[in-house]
Amino acid sequence: MSETHPSREPPGFPHRHLLGIEGLSRGEIEFLLDLADVYAAKDPRDHQRSSLLSGYTVINLFFENSTRTRTSFELAAKRLGAEVINMSVASSSIKKGETLIDTAMTLTAMRPDLLVVRHPDSGAVSLLSEKVDCAVINGGDGSHEHPTQALLDALSIRRRKGRLAGLTVAICGDVLHSRVARSNIYLLTTMGAQVRVIAPPTLLPAGIERFGAQAFTDMRAGLADVDIVMMLRLQNERMQGSYVPSVREYFRFYGLDQEKLASAKPDALVMHPGPMNRGVEIDSELADDIDRSLIHTQVAMGVAVRMACLHALLRGEEPPEEGRA
Ligand code: NCD
Repeated sequence: MSETHPSREPPGFPHRHLLGIEGLSRGEIEFLLDLADVYAAKDPRDHQRSSLLSGYTVINLFFENSTRTRTSFELAAKRLGAEVINMSVASSSIKKGETLIDTAMTLTAMRPDLLVVRHPDSGAVSLLSEKVDCAVINGGDGSHEHPTQALLDALSIRRRKGRLAGLTVAICGDVLHSRVARSNIYLLTTMGAQVRVIAPPTLLPAGIERFGAQAFTDMRAGLADVDIVMMLRLQNERMQGSYVPSVREYFRFYGLDQEKLASAKPDALVMHPGPMNRGVEIDSELADDIDRSLIHTQVAMGVAVRMACLHALLRGEEPPEEGRA
């Protein structure tokens, strides 16, 4: 199969892998968002599968639990006509370095066209990409990067606000452990948005300003006049010891409710990558408020963005097929 694939780099997105947002240019990010916009406009229920990726095999290789990211990649690949195989590897039962390379060798022998990999260790996906001879998309590596999440967040914002440049975005909560925060800081600053991070001192990474973000430890001060409030989940699975005094106290100081949101612009929108801890990071009613919350849009845009990424990496030279998704 792979020998019939074009060997030249596709125009618009000249990369073999999507391992992170760091290092991508504004034009490359725009290319992916524009392509995702085309897919977002299609009706997935017209029951006509695209054949763009017919004959291609995508393997979802997840060393860490996931519901929405895995299903979103699976749907995206299937809507483009690819074969999809899901492999979950329980991280507790593996000796990491060794198993990762073993897994890479086994998978290479199966000759997939693309691997989507999620792993609890930062850098593991990049390491794996060097050992396989197919395209690799990072579905989240430790607290490092989660590029498709940042792209779907950007697409959700752009479709609602019409632009990214010039907006002020506050990323709030467990910034320390969040790959979503890192990918979003890279993407939003590259696209000309102002980024603030708001976190308790224990969850604020040292030197975060070097990434181009302004740091706050007070929610109301940090939220003043922002256009977008992006909440993060407390990543308990990445915490050893105690970073927050109690869930109740966390909500009181850092949980988003209408009262704290009042510091933001009157038309500010609220986001969360999910899974949400309702009543801990965000007030439940606010999360469901369709006038303020982009949370459902984020899930919907996830499929369109992943279709665009698969398309760009595997068939970058092809336009999307007319009228089909
Ligand atoms: C995020 C992740 O896995 O990094 N979730 C996701 O991809 N939907 C954020 C999180 O787990 O909090």
